[in-house]
Amino acid sequence: MAILVCGGAGYIGSHMVDELLKRKEVPVVIDNLRTGHREAVPENVKFYQADIRDSKALDKVFTENKIEAVIHFAACSLVGESMEKPLLYLNNNVYGMQVLLEAMVKYNVDKIVFSSSAATYGEPQKVPIVETDPTEPTNPYGESKLMMEKMMKWVSLIHKVRYVSLRYFNVAGAAEDGHIGEAHSPESHLVPIILQVPLKKRAAITIYGEDYPTRDGTCIRDYVHVVDLADAHIKALNYLRENNKSDIFNLGSGNGFSVREMIEAAKKATGEDIKVIIGKRRPGDPAQLVAASEKAQKVLGWKPHYTDMESIIKTAWTWHKSHPKGFNKL
Ligand code: UFG
Repeated sequence: MAILVCGGAGYIGSHMVDELLKRKEVPVVIDNLRTGHREAVPENVKFYQADIRDSKALDKVFTENKIEAVIHFAACSLVGESMEKPLLYLNNNVYGMQVLLEAMVKYNVDKIVFSSSAATYGEPQKVPIVETDPTEPTNPYGESKLMMEKMMKWVSLIHKVRYVSLRYFNVAGAAEDGHIGEAHSPESHLVPIILQVPLKKRAAITIYGEDYPTRDGTCIRDYVHVVDLADAHIKALNYLRENNKSDIFNLGSGNGFSVREMIEAAKKATGEDIKVIIGKRRPGDPAQLVAASEKAQKVLGWKPHYTDMESIIKTAWTWHKSHPKGFNKL
């Protein structure tokens, strides 16, 4: 049977497909290519260019394939954009989840692993954040992910669907051999932006504020390698296959790194100097986001393989150096 990967042409989704293939699973991908890249999915993987809000397209996918479970990444995921276009996030993410769950119920597909976010917590009252902490999103993106979790909760109470929701913190890195990686346009994430300096695409990295109440004044985040994340999804899938109950897990390394520490790690990973400019705070950035991920480690048996920042950034560097224009020109 096949695993349907919604959003399988995106950054995390494409690494998921890669991991599924390595584990001899059969992925089927649906992606509208709004932000994903067709080139990120191997030719031999069944691919549907369609939107998950299109129930007819889902009918086709679910009738043409024997789908055992769904792994769901298909969503808009930019905090800043969500503050400008809240209705886009509600429509694409929340309504998208509704249509997907309707199809799962209709076709008796009973397992879903969901890509959630640390943004569901909002401004944390304490770090590390545990799964039972209050969820008070501070932007429509985080709210949409929380609403999607709640939709799964209610559907699972009434229909024969079980879910695992994985709340990720900051995702970085690329496949070890660099054949796929992160390619957003425009780019807003820290690691690819830092690497644009040694790639000579920008003269310097601007640090968004160095007056935060942290050890060096810059924001602290918990960075997880994208392949470790994909591994967690496989463990979550197997957890559901073993008939375990629906649940929510944080995915982070449990260690926080500051923006300055990430830049230092990038200097070591690339062997290049990286020029820094100090800018203003970016609105909405919490000072610190660090996950307590003991629950995922204990219940799912997940253990991140990449724990030092230099090794995470090295894999991103391998990808960016070999694909300076992303997927556009190899
Ligand atoms: N940063 C800079 N300069 C840059 C880019 C980022 O200083 O040019 C800083 C940010 O201010 C922040 C840190 O680097 O302190 C990380 O920023 P990212 O944009 O890479 O990531 P965020 O922590 O803002 O967001 C991530 C995910 C979101 C998710 C959020 C959870 O990208 O999808 O975590 O809160 F919602």
